[in-house]
Amino acid sequence: MSFSIERYKEESKKLDTTGVAWADVTAHSLSKGDLFCLHYMMDIENHVPLYLSHLLVTRACMDPILTAFLACWNYEELWHGENLGKLLNLYGIQFDTQDRIARVRANLGVQNSISILTTMAGSWLSKDFSAVYLSIGAINELSTLTGYAALIRKSNHPVLADLLSRIIKDERRHFAFYYNSAKEWLAGNEKAQRFDRWMLDRVWVPVGKGVKRQEEVDALALYLFDDEQGEEDLLALDEKIGRLPGLSGIKLMSRALYEARARARQNPDWAWRLIETESWAIARPKHSPVAELTGRRGGDPSYQLVEAD
Ligand SMILES: [Fe+2]
Ligand SMILES: [Fe+2]
Repeated sequence: MSFSIERYKEESKKLDTTGVAWADVTAHSLSKGDLFCLHYMMDIENHVPLYLSHLLVTRACMDPILTAFLACWNYEELWHGENLGKLLNLYGIQFDTQDRIARVRANLGVQNSISILTTMAGSWLSKDFSAVYLSIGAINELSTLTGYAALIRKSNHPVLADLLSRIIKDERRHFAFYYNSAKEWLAGNEKAQRFDRWMLDRVWVPVGKGVKRQEEVDALALYLFDDEQGEEDLLALDEKIGRLPGLSGIKLMSRALYEARARARQNPDWAWRLIETESWAIARPKHSPVAELTGRRGGDPSYQLVEAD
């Protein structure tokens, strides 16, 4: 698996959806679990610009190759969220994308700002922060594409399968960048390896945690991976990450699945009730009205955009 930043810059583009049979979206049904996952995935894809704001304040971004990658990566991720939203809308689930994104962000509250500050401070305290960030990037991209492949298998919906297969190609390139960059940083650098492993064992969380609650993260994990094939996929994922220098035998995604199973054993309603009650709607924020945060005014839920004279 190789990666060339020059080639990536040349080839990076908006997701090509030419030929996707959008008209057939309603011809095949999606289960409650499929819809739960699609909302989760769309929200997290749409959260990328805010995630980027955490990265741009770190020492890692002194590296111009990394910032070139992030510039293209951010644009590509935007179209993943847009297209997942389009599919849900065509399936008949009505929401205003901008309104939903603003609500997700407003619900993050002050925690988001605190997290930016701690990431920034942490990165300047340790030179090897980059190794941690790059490893986390590799794990997140690989678990994202593994999740999309699992949803293709679970949903058995040809249009969704076509769309997700195209998105997976982008995620593979993202994974290749992070993985190769992490490997380069860690190779022959025992101090970085020890720090990376220590941090991953303690601070790593599955993609989406923080934006989504633990129960929502568990619902996604149990729906997609709580079968033989799913568990195998997660063990293979951990094994691949374990091939990075210093990370041999690490358990991340499989551990997240086992912890989700343990919580579900304690409370049989856990996680599945979110899928069952179709609780993917985003609540109106308690303390931060969306209109106040975005500066937009007008009727809720759909904003009235006024054109400038
Ligand atoms: Fe993506
Ligand atoms: Fe990605």
